[in-house]
Amino acid sequence: MVQIKIIVNDVMGAPFVAEHGLSLALYTQSGLTLFDTGQGAALVPNAQTAGVDLSAVSRLIFSHGHYDHTGGFVALLEQGAEPEVCFAPGLTDARFSRHVNMPVKNIAIPDVCRRALDAYPAEKKLVISSFTEIEPGMFLTGPIPRISGEDVGGPFFLDEAGTRPDPIADEQAILFDDGTLVVGCCHAGIINTVRYCQSVKPEIRIRKIIGGLHLLNASKERVEQTKSFLDSLNLEELTAIHCTGVAINVGEPRV
Ligand SMILES: [Fe+2]
Ligand SMILES: [Fe+2]
Repeated sequence: MVQIKIIVNDVMGAPFVAEHGLSLALYTQSGLTLFDTGQGAALVPNAQTAGVDLSAVSRLIFSHGHYDHTGGFVALLEQGAEPEVCFAPGLTDARFSRHVNMPVKNIAIPDVCRRALDAYPAEKKLVISSFTEIEPGMFLTGPIPRISGEDVGGPFFLDEAGTRPDPIADEQAILFDDGTLVVGCCHAGIINTVRYCQSVKPEIRIRKIIGGLHLLNASKERVEQTKSFLDSLNLEELTAIHCTGVAINVGEPRV
């Protein structure tokens, strides 16, 4: 059974440092996996506070390429970690958000982290293109098909001018055979994510979900659709954090 500690999140009680971003420590049978790294500043102090030894991280999984999930990569390496790094194709693409009444914002992986990943040993990089069992009972979804009709659009683009919408196709989640589903930002939609997992692994009943559900700017209809879907799962635990919907710094776009 996986044990999970929240290291970086938008809301953290003192003495933890709050930051718009996500990082989770996952203790599995193979050791310590880090799921995302937050933006960077909160990772190291919060890991120390939580008693998580970042130098012992043997696997890093990126949920997708946004800065609030990838920006701590260099900070992690500086702690002495030499993890296997798992990510889906497109992680390092250029990315921008264009929220109404807000300046265009570069939301890609920070350049310093992109360069570090480019220079990272090829044998330690695992590109996940499809549903993959990365250790017994632990599955990475790879890119998630958008099949449910769920509204997963947003003001996200691959170019600064906003001519090429970004489907954030690299978004991936982790499914454990104990029924735990770990999600990053859920740009693919939680309904799509759950249904994809159910289609590939129908024998695993999803009992727990943790991560961001990206509902902050969702329509009332989408929130209600999501609520009734989650209700139908009869979950034992739902830990909806990060971009799910709590606005901390009003005016700062959430990605
Ligand atoms: Fe995010
Ligand atoms: Fe995101």
